[in-house]
Amino acid sequence: VRTETRIRPARGVIDGWRREGSRIALVPTMGNLHQGHLSLVEAARGRADRVVVTIFVNPLQFGPSEDFGAYPRTFGEDQAKLEGANVDLVFEPEPGEMYPRGDAQQCRVEVPSLSDILCGASRPGHFAGVATVVAKLFNIAGPDVALFGEKDFQQLLVIRRMTADLCFPIEIEGVATVREPDGLAMSSRNAYLSPVERAKAPFLYRTLCAGAEKIAAGSPWVEVEDFGRDALRYAGFETDYFAVRRAEDLLPPAEDDADLVLLAAARLGRARLIDNVRVDRGRGLPA
Ligand code: PAF
Repeated sequence: VRTETRIRPARGVIDGWRREGSRIALVPTMGNLHQGHLSLVEAARGRADRVVVTIFVNPLQFGPSEDFGAYPRTFGEDQAKLEGANVDLVFEPEPGEMYPRGDAQQCRVEVPSLSDILCGASRPGHFAGVATVVAKLFNIAGPDVALFGEKDFQQLLVIRRMTADLCFPIEIEGVATVREPDGLAMSSRNAYLSPVERAKAPFLYRTLCAGAEKIAAGSPWVEVEDFGRDALRYAGFETDYFAVRRAEDLLPPAEDDADLVLLAAARLGRARLIDNVRVDRGRGLPA
């Protein structure tokens, strides 16, 4: 598959397609591709004439004590997967290409209120790192549509808000989470799980689903949060949060808010797992 590592030639290729009248889709990733990423590519194929996948482990979105160094880098295997997925261009820059001034890059794209809560509370600076690199990738590729997984629900909202606030003429599309047969959301970080932890991991999704059923049946959301935290603690998870929020803006639900999302982040050994489930309080679980 055609691969560029420098910004200028990547832009040249994409500009050529745009001049031909092609619609461009962008799928930003950090590599270590799994079926979840391939479902983004597949959705992109249905939305555009040309599909650009970016592979970049973005140092700016990792905290000093996080797994930037350990994050799985499998560029050879990723290439093979993308070869079979009908991708038109892979943009795979080195950190020095994206951040030529290194730590001296001053500019940050911040979406404060959405970024300080939930995952942002335990990962300070993470969403500014995500928003900054995604804005850069948008400026490099100039896509018509960009696709992101719904597994990272808060990230998706941050990117939607950044896109709207900065007037990027780009449609943002969320794509449904792809799960293992036992319900565990696919994630590169699942590789950190020991066999015993891997067997326990689907309990996160099961607890979110049980919480969603309680919400649909009319339980108060505060009680459902307590239920989720207790259930995860008894199962041996170290929980960062188990929260019921408005799907629109992640604020605590008011009485008449129906479109809700249950979100959780919890650690099992070295792995920090996140997942979420939507629920319509008015009509029961969504189809
Ligand atoms: O979701 C990811 O893999 C990353 O956060 C993203 C959107 C590619 C930005 O680095």
